[in-house]
Amino acid sequence: MYRSHTCGELREADVNKSVTLSGWVHKIRDKGFVAWVDLRDRYGITQLVFDEDRTSSKLLEQARTLGREFVVQVQGKVIERASKNPNIPTGNIEVLVEELTLLNSSKTPPFTIENETDGGEDLRMKYRYLDIRRNPVKDNLIFRSKVTMAVRKYLSEEGFIEVETPYLIKSTPEGARDFVVPSRMNEGQFYALPQSPQTFKQLLMVGGLDKYFQIVKCFRDEDLRADRQPEFTQIDCEMAFVEQEDILNAFEGLTKYLLKEINGVEIDKFPRMTFDEAMKRFGNDKPDIRFGMEFGELNEVAQHKDFNVFNSAELVVGIAVPSGNSYTRKEIDKLTDWVKRPQVGAKGMVYVRCNEDGTYRSSVDKFYDQNDLANWAKKTEAKQGDLICVLSGDANKTRTQLSALRMEMAERLGLRKPDEFAPLWVIDFPLLELDEETGNYHAMHHPFTSPKPGQLELLETNPGAVRANAYDLVLNGNEIGGGSIRIHDKEVQGIMFKHLGFTPEEAKAQFGFLMDAFQYGAPPHGGIAFGLDRLVAILGGQETIRDFIAFPKNNSGRDVMIDAPAPIDKEQLKELNLKLDIQS
Ligand code: AMO
Repeated sequence: MYRSHTCGELREADVNKSVTLSGWVHKIRDKGFVAWVDLRDRYGITQLVFDEDRTSSKLLEQARTLGREFVVQVQGKVIERASKNPNIPTGNIEVLVEELTLLNSSKTPPFTIENETDGGEDLRMKYRYLDIRRNPVKDNLIFRSKVTMAVRKYLSEEGFIEVETPYLIKSTPEGARDFVVPSRMNEGQFYALPQSPQTFKQLLMVGGLDKYFQIVKCFRDEDLRADRQPEFTQIDCEMAFVEQEDILNAFEGLTKYLLKEINGVEIDKFPRMTFDEAMKRFGNDKPDIRFGMEFGELNEVAQHKDFNVFNSAELVVGIAVPSGNSYTRKEIDKLTDWVKRPQVGAKGMVYVRCNEDGTYRSSVDKFYDQNDLANWAKKTEAKQGDLICVLSGDANKTRTQLSALRMEMAERLGLRKPDEFAPLWVIDFPLLELDEETGNYHAMHHPFTSPKPGQLELLETNPGAVRANAYDLVLNGNEIGGGSIRIHDKEVQGIMFKHLGFTPEEAKAQFGFLMDAFQYGAPPHGGIAFGLDRLVAILGGQETIRDFIAFPKNNSGRDVMIDAPAPIDKEQLKELNLKLDIQS
């Protein structure tokens, strides 16, 4: 038996017990006649004592040969500590070692296995197995497991069944590039890894399984960010015989359950906002509603004066930064530089100081009097002591820029509190999105999303105005889930493909199997998929999903530990009938 107890388990009540522990040597303190070793495992740290007088000098000598991260087994007696450590649960006891067995030695680790380590990101990723020994990473993985278990429990109790769908499939259009896998047995042909199990879960509905879920890996070859990985996990769900309202209620239920079970937070009813409203009030389809700073549109009160920048703009819009009047001129200049960075892209920023005495001072005082500025303050709901920041230009771009500023200011002001949770349904998304480069429309969610009832005709006349039965679940400014009611009619699906620029032949080649299935009694159906990595990170009070994934990829899509991707040898290429001709 390697252990009778874990390293996090023993307490004062265990004093005098004979115990066996196994773990890693965390720290050694040698005082000459006595040495202490902190022994660590997943559950905690227990102090071991090697004492010349109380046990043997031979044992003490043996302890001196140990190094950091050696794996050992000890047998000994639990004793009360003379000087207690209130910072750890086992701090009142120690184990007087009577027998020490070395299970394995270790090279000196490249960084310290401490909560605050001296290892940089790259080093930690290369030795991720050592990083996982550190509490912050280990705790995140345990937290993820707890969330995953809770999801499975809730959904199975609600009658959902978990079905696995294949990974070697063909393209599923979710808007990213596919990762492809060459087929050895079918020369010149490739599988695509699923961007999501979208089409399969719809086929399961045709199959009559009516309530499906799967905790499933998805693969998307897209640019990576803090909240994006090339392979990530979805809680993928689909239901038959449902309307949008049924889906929203079912998955509001799941989210509420998780918030209560995991975070101890009870939320009554999740607010809902249309896409248009979200864009108008927050410039963003995933607004963080934990704080205000809502947009105030200023066209009416700022145009038709002598300020041409505003006169020629499609939209003039501002936010009131709470207590922002305390910013020095230099700080405001820096903020202006911040919005002008290419990542944000504003041309400039107009500001209005709302003085404590009720007067205003702005960067455009030449063009606007106190009365004008008071109107701006009204529109942005600015109070005395605030700073109004105003951007202008093309409506969509300006909204996006001001949204970036709003989030930045909230971050700086500490308004994005990690232990506060504000879920929000964003509904009525546009069905189609215009690709400005090609001038073509593509599906904003995916091509299987149904238009709102009665809007099919609008597809011919004003495609951009068609709204979809599509919804996102937003938590603290992050899109944690998205879904839609699907088209279940072959004809309607055909019309959609046509509008997305597929010829009937192309549609048949790519999605013929789905159209065929729709001829055999497809029930009305819809669903949603949550990004599990994102959900876990946010419930854990963070936003970087990498920290909640055991073996994540870096921003170039590499796994630096196993060094992937990597070239494959000639033999393998030959077997796959692949010729790497980079010239053509
Ligand atoms: P969607 O593409 O919106 O919908 O994806 C659902 C959720 O998955 C998460 N997500 C990601 N998480 C980490 N890294 C990524 N690269 C990444 N991409 C997406 C997001 C997102 O909300 N089949 C549809 C769902 C449906 O219609 O039922 C789909 O995949 O949290």
